Amino acid sequence: MDNTVDTELSFWEQIEEDFRSHGCDWTLPGFRAVAVHRFGVWRMTVQPKLLRAPLSLLYRMLFRKIRNGYGIELPYTVNLGRRVVIEHQGGIVIHGYSTIGDDCIIRQGVTLGNRYLNRPLDAPKLGKRVNVGAGAKIFGDVTIGDDVNIGANAVVLNDIPSESTAVGIPAKVIQKSLVN
Ligand SMILES: CC(C)(COP(=O)(O)OP(=O)(O)OC[C@H]1O[C@@H](n2cnc3c(N)ncnc32)[C@H](O)[C@@H]1OP(=O)(O)O)[C@@H](O)C(=O)NCCC(=O)NCCS
Repeated sequence: MDNTVDTELSFWEQIEEDFRSHGCDWTLPGFRAVAVHRFGVWRMTVQPKLLRAPLSLLYRMLFRKIRNGYGIELPYTVNLGRRVVIEHQGGIVIHGYSTIGDDCIIRQGVTLGNRYLNRPLDAPKLGKRVNVGAGAKIFGDVTIGDDVNIGANAVVLNDIPSESTAVGIPAKVIQKSLVN
């Protein structure tokens, strides 16, 4: 599994690709959350710092608007892959040090977070094409392989191998299956 995220696209190319991934609907909260994330990453490339300052202010305002209005907390520090889809909104919390690989789907009520209070920097790493069911929670320094289904409301506490489906609390692999 390769967790490196391809960032060869320009900011506007990324926005266009994300727009298409979200069904070409600019009103979708998921698209808006991803677009603000891309903006947050892009603005860090702007030099000098004086020029970046107003962009950072705008980013922080937009981040709060998305978080408070749609319930999607997706900090720019998340290593976010291409064509990631946030389907629906509400109760979505993504740890700032998480990795989400290309073509993953994140749904309402999903948390990617640290497991222990005294290990605040631990965060999950999702491979490519991970299909995260509604309400699923993934905690700690765990690695999810490529082509994985995480069942709705699962609580994932351990690594999940590629090409598998995990369900339940704590989540257990039930069978080998490819994401369709
Ligand atoms: C996990 C999931 C992807 C199904 O995977 P699958 O490989 O097709 O699995 P199956 O449906 O054949 O179920 C296999 C077993 O897992 C169980 N199972 C399926 N989903 C489960 C879940 N979320 N939690 C607990 N058990 C689950 C089934 O009851 C079945 O158990 P059994 O063998 O004892 O009868 C699917 O059930 C799921 O949770 N998808 C998320 C969908 C979602 O979030 N939709 C929101 C749209 S807004």
